[in-house]
Amino acid sequence: MSRVFLLSRDDLPDAAALEAEHFPAPWSLGQFQRGHAQGTCRVHGIRLEVVLIGYISCQIFPPEMEILNMAVRQDFRGCGLGRALVAAALEDGAALRIDACHLEVDETNLAAVHLYTALGFTRIGRRRNYYQHPDGARDAILMQCDPRCLAPIRGPKEIFRQC
Ligand SMILES: CC(C)(COP(=O)(O)OP(=O)(O)OC[C@H]1O[C@@H](n2cnc3c(N)ncnc32)[C@H](O)[C@@H]1OP(=O)(O)O)[C@@H](O)C(=O)NCCC(=O)NCCS
Repeated sequence: MSRVFLLSRDDLPDAAALEAEHFPAPWSLGQFQRGHAQGTCRVHGIRLEVVLIGYISCQIFPPEMEILNMAVRQDFRGCGLGRALVAAALEDGAALRIDACHLEVDETNLAAVHLYTALGFTRIGRRRNYYQHPDGARDAILMQCDPRCLAPIRGPKEIFRQC
């Protein structure tokens, strides 16, 4: 069974590679390493044997945190991994006495918006034309939650639905 874990420095190249596969303006490995060394960037991930199949990166500035990016490999989506990753990041934040977690999400990214809403994030704003795409600009929705209040709706982070 796979389990969400906090990435060490040695795991960061895999996270940077997954980030580069999924996002047009990815963090470089150097950015991940600097954030890790400073303690401001914490990344959780899931491996299937040796392969990193999902990760979530967060910036921590107590008492606030921000979810920077998250991705699950295409073949493993819809299995509950995204939910487990967000839950792990929030649990980590709560342990660090974070009282507000923020994020920005493309409003057309229905999977991500659904996931964050299901975990208790609420919409607090909008940034117009925030994401540039070949087919036009898209708005970002700003969302927020208090990680300390979400324990009852989080599932065990090592249990995933059958894929
Ligand atoms: C967003 C992403 C991480 C979700 O990962 P995932 O492992 O598929 O998520 P889960 O299986 O945990 O599903 C989470 C919820 O989203 C729902 N969902 C999944 N795909 C959906 C879709 N296309 N439309 C609506 N809801 C969807 C699931 O039903 C589930 O809800 P439920 O628990 O109430 O049934 C994944 O789609 C991904 O990597 N996308 C590309 C990168 C990305 O967009 N990252 C987010 C940047 S903010």
